[in-house]
Amino acid sequence: MNTMDAIKLRHSTRAFSDRQIPEEALQEILFAGGQAAIGCADFASLKLVAVQNPELLAEIDLSSANGNPDSHPVYHAPTLVVVAAKKGFLENIELSNAGCIIQNMMVMAADQGIDSVYLWMAMMGINRSEELQKKLGFPEGFACVGTCALGYAAKEFPKLKAAEQRLEVSVIR
Ligand SMILES: Cc1cc2nc3c(=O)[nH]c(=O)nc-3n(C[C@H](O)[C@H](O)[C@H](O)COP(=O)(O)O)c2cc1C
Repeated sequence: MNTMDAIKLRHSTRAFSDRQIPEEALQEILFAGGQAAIGCADFASLKLVAVQNPELLAEIDLSSANGNPDSHPVYHAPTLVVVAAKKGFLENIELSNAGCIIQNMMVMAADQGIDSVYLWMAMMGINRSEELQKKLGFPEGFACVGTCALGYAAKEFPKLKAAEQRLEVSVIR
């Protein structure tokens, strides 16, 4: 698939079937994440944890639900990639690093016919539970800076993509 097709194909999915993604695709997606631009090339400040354990996914889902156990903010995804980081050299750079990593992963997922969604809610759920961070194997001083759910859509979602540009753009020459 060419790059623009994969970029256009990526869209947020908010209901996943229980079909797991192939191991080979997971490894490709994680590799794509590792190829992202990283501020100050500080690779040691980041770690990716792919969660496929159903009990741990359910715990993350519940912790992210803001007291509403029926909301399921992880949308029953069979895989959740958690980006963990320690504070970078520059303020908030770890959040931008996570954005670059997750976008790479979602575009690669789209290329592989795998659906995805960026999940801030799951990041909050993980960061409010020390026990979850321990189970995720975060090194000392690391916290979650972003997550990305992967799987196959259980139903069709309206694609917000259109042929036209979604953002206001200007070019100054
Ligand atoms: C930083 C970031 C955090 C997001 N967090 C969530 C989230 O917690 N839950 C969710 O359903 N979607 C989340 N999204 C997905 C956006 O809502 C989605 O990208 C946006 O509506 C545009 O739709 P599209 O992804 O289909 O193009 C997040 C996206 C970004 C970039």
